[in-house]
Amino acid sequence: MTNHTYSIRAATTDDADAIREIACLAEPEDAATATELTAALNCAVFVDPYLTLDPDLVFVADDGTRPVGYVLGTGDTPTFVGRYRAEYLPEVAPRLPLGEGEPITWDEKFAWLLHNPEYMLLEDVSAYPAHLHVNLLPGHTRAGLGRELVARFVDALRERRVGGVHLATALDNIGGQAFFHALGFQHVEADLPASFFVRDTAPI
Ligand SMILES: CC(C)(COP(=O)(O)OP(=O)(O)OC[C@H]1O[C@@H](n2cnc3c(N)ncnc32)[C@H](O)[C@@H]1OP(=O)(O)O)[C@@H](O)C(=O)NCCC(=O)NCCS
Repeated sequence: MTNHTYSIRAATTDDADAIREIACLAEPEDAATATELTAALNCAVFVDPYLTLDPDLVFVADDGTRPVGYVLGTGDTPTFVGRYRAEYLPEVAPRLPLGEGEPITWDEKFAWLLHNPEYMLLEDVSAYPAHLHVNLLPGHTRAGLGRELVARFVDALRERRVGGVHLATALDNIGGQAFFHALGFQHVEADLPASFFVRDTAPI
């Protein structure tokens, strides 16, 4: 087994490609229908808006050679969604257009998310205005990196005087849900096809 000396650090613009690569390794449920476009859309929805609009809230776990995990998000989801629509979407939309009709394939679903950022405005978690995404490369899990990344993100929120954070996992992501429980997040009932968790910004 390889021994790693990990560090958690603020991301720089040089980390962008590594972060996108890590994000794309999180396979969509129906990998058989995933395409190169799926990867581009995945990054356009779940990575690039954060790198563009809230770069000071991106942290990476570095194994001494490259980032092997990241956390990113925003301190204020409503403001983020407004800026996404006004500043981010006009740049990206011509390259990744929205199809017509009901979204059925993964590409169509990701494209719908890309063009409808208001899906992030959820009444059930509005008392917890920040949100985050955390992801590690396979092979670097269960070493405490997820905990350290989220702890660093929560510290940064507290420094900004943000009081609460929410996130979503896939309904079948049992490991991810156990992780957030272990970090003191609470599950919130919501009539949506995902599991939602909230937490205050006390130190982890
Ligand atoms: C979820 C994820 C971020 C957890 O990161 P990690 O570095 O593996 O987790 P840690 O080592 O910091 O775990 C902290 C605690 O969480 C719990 N935990 C973490 N992963 C778990 C799992 N798969 N099953 C059960 N408990 C788990 C444990 O209590 C663990 O403490 P322990 O290792 O002392 O038992 C990582 O597995 C990952 O990137 N998964 C894929 C992407 C994902 O699911 N992201 C979350 C949805 S946004």
